[in-house]
Amino acid sequence: MNAPAFQRTLVTAALPYANGPIHLGHLAGVYVPADIYVRFLRLMGEEVLFICGSDEHGVPITLTAEREGIDPKTLVDRNYEGIRQSFAQLGVKFDNYSQTSRDIHRRTSQEFFLDLHRQGVLRQGSSLQYFSEETGRFYPDRYVEGTCPNCQNPARGDQCESCGSQIEAEELIDPHSVTDNAPIVLKESRHWFLPMGDLQEWLQPWIESKTEWRDNVLNYCRGWFDVGLGDRAVTRDLHWGVPVPLEGHEGKVLYVWFEAPIGYISSTREWAEAQGDPELWRRWWQDPSTRLLHFIGKDNIVFHALLFPAMLHAHSESYIVPDNVPANEFLNLEGQKLSTSRGYAVWLPDYLDHFPPDSLRYCLARNLPEARDTNFAWDEFQARHNHELADILGNFINRSLTFTEKYFEGRVPPRGRLLDQDQAALDGILEAAQKVEEQMRGFQIRGATETLLLLSKRANRYFDEAQPWATRKTDMDRCGTSLYVCCQYVRAFAGMWSMVLPFAMQQLWTALGVEGELGHEGWPRTDRWLEEGHPVSRPPILFSKLDDELIEAEKSRLVDLDPS
Ligand code: 2FM
Ligand code: ZN
Repeated sequence: MNAPAFQRTLVTAALPYANGPIHLGHLAGVYVPADIYVRFLRLMGEEVLFICGSDEHGVPITLTAEREGIDPKTLVDRNYEGIRQSFAQLGVKFDNYSQTSRDIHRRTSQEFFLDLHRQGVLRQGSSLQYFSEETGRFYPDRYVEGTCPNCQNPARGDQCESCGSQIEAEELIDPHSVTDNAPIVLKESRHWFLPMGDLQEWLQPWIESKTEWRDNVLNYCRGWFDVGLGDRAVTRDLHWGVPVPLEGHEGKVLYVWFEAPIGYISSTREWAEAQGDPELWRRWWQDPSTRLLHFIGKDNIVFHALLFPAMLHAHSESYIVPDNVPANEFLNLEGQKLSTSRGYAVWLPDYLDHFPPDSLRYCLARNLPEARDTNFAWDEFQARHNHELADILGNFINRSLTFTEKYFEGRVPPRGRLLDQDQAALDGILEAAQKVEEQMRGFQIRGATETLLLLSKRANRYFDEAQPWATRKTDMDRCGTSLYVCCQYVRAFAGMWSMVLPFAMQQLWTALGVEGELGHEGWPRTDRWLEEGHPVSRPPILFSKLDDELIEAEKSRLVDLDPS
């Protein structure tokens, strides 16, 4: 493969809202593929930084906080801690996980806003907003309810759930606040706008040059270009958020979708400070030899492929723009759309209470919604765990190392004379490794995982055909050669599978006693084969079978929630 044309890669994963725990949809859309990709780059010996944090502003957060009777900061700090812990338990290993409510983010996003403002990039204009004379506050759409002018049913803010129509602010009948019932009027409010229409001149040819991007992302952007991007408000009348850093704008904050992506930069700055070199973040954001990748779900495409690049491009300092935005489609659950409001989801902390982290990483990786929506079903989860991880991969590793331990004193046997099938099996490792590398570089993480499974099946078949249980009685050299080949498979699996199965492969790595840290030891190569005589031991059982009972409990919990 050609050497990469860049020197380092900055990988960001969408900042999750600190409004509740992470669920399987988030994981399949963003965090599992991003983490596997980062682990891949580290295995290849490349320099990579993996940045995330929680997105802690915006109306849903203030609404939840008000409902719970706590202040937003208490809410987001609690959720931040929960999310950070469950990511760690799932082996999603960020270099930095920050919060957008921190001071460093306030400073970074205010500086960004001021840079655009001073250059005259932003426009000022006014719009009609909901306002209460009683409380003297502006109210976001979601805080206001009234009667729909079309169907006369109760409706919220700018949309009627009953008849689906969009409601203009001045059309809603009898508007009042949902929290304090205060009557609402409309009032002019001055805001700042990012003139996306002007920036389209740069954006459109830039997007069209990205021929290698996924079709879903390109088509989505083209759809926007067709209708025209228009001016986008970057400020809001709210009290929770990053204050607009201009005099005379008290009570206004930066729009959450303006400041949240800047959170990637603040998180990198926080990381740089922790390294003792506060300016180090510039190497990751302003050096053209750095490659920037945003892992996101499809609902975030407009912000990461259009808005944020336009902001980065418009800044007076020379920021890099994303090299790729591998956005995923959605994951359904047992054939239905996930719904956080109905609680129809599998929450990561609940999952981790009952099942091993690797099994979920694997099952999602096999079924990533890379090109279309996919489905998670508990029966399939159980089948993949029991048949693919336990019966195929786990069984092969266990058999190979048990035989080596028993009949060769726990040392990699002498290679001896390789027959055609032995050589073909060894070549098969390198061929598959190359294919996995190509797939990973093309963001086909699902395909790469399947290639690894096929290689594991091949290893199992080789073991069956070589019959070391028989040859150990008739031809010890032959037995040794086939176990030598098996040991090389085990060694290669520990490395490559560690992208997907970091916990199990760490146990295996320890049992193999190879020098160096797992995850940095390089891709399979002949000069990385285990040497003859190298001592190995047998790891504990890596994947124990999952009982029906456990799976049935999860299924019935969802059936109880299913309204259909
Ligand atoms: O969709 C979401 O969950 C958003 N919180 C993602 C933000 S990504 C970035 F812009 F911060
Ligand atoms: Zn209606």
